[in-house]
Amino acid sequence: MVAWYGDIEEVISPAEIAKRVAELGRSISRDFVGRELVLIGVLKGSFLFMADLCRHIELPITCDFFGLSSYGDQTKSTGVIRITSDLKRPIAGKDVLVVEDIVDTGLTVQYLLENLKARRASSIKVCSLLDKPSRRVVPAQIDYLGFSVPNLFVVGYGLDFKGRYRNLPFVGKLPDDHPEIAG
Ligand code: IMP
Repeated sequence: MVAWYGDIEEVISPAEIAKRVAELGRSISRDFVGRELVLIGVLKGSFLFMADLCRHIELPITCDFFGLSSYGDQTKSTGVIRITSDLKRPIAGKDVLVVEDIVDTGLTVQYLLENLKARRASSIKVCSLLDKPSRRVVPAQIDYLGFSVPNLFVVGYGLDFKGRYRNLPFVGKLPDDHPEIAG
């Protein structure tokens, strides 16, 4: 029987993700011991990662979300970043941890850091589930990284293609001959 997600191939399993997310949570808890953190999730791709990661951070935290979009319906970044939803609370004087799904060209993280620095946070660190270093256009700060991936378009565990596949429990590879890419 063909799975509902067709021929998307698993690249990182749910067990590998769970193990790495717990490790990241432990590192963050150690590095910020005695402090309070504001987690800023970048929507929509980081929502599952953020939900799992925050449960492994043993510190007082608050959560906020930044809606950014750079892809439209394509698999290549347009390079034009739009704010679709802003933070709900000021971050001046706070320790901030940005939670990203994937750093690809680096343009989103660059834009985000410039924007957050202007709000005078006391410190800003970046935690990304995935990194695609081969695609970098501008240098990107990543302080905590889950996994490096090769130059593939990946979906699942929050990451989408045309809004779909975010609910896959694994990170998978969209086939190059996927009808919606080819077409
Ligand atoms: P960047 O600005 O090129 O670094 O892209 C960052 C954003 O593009 C990420 O937060 C994702 O939402 C999206 N993105 C980049 N690569 C992929 C991918 O392989 N699958 C799904 N989304 C991706």
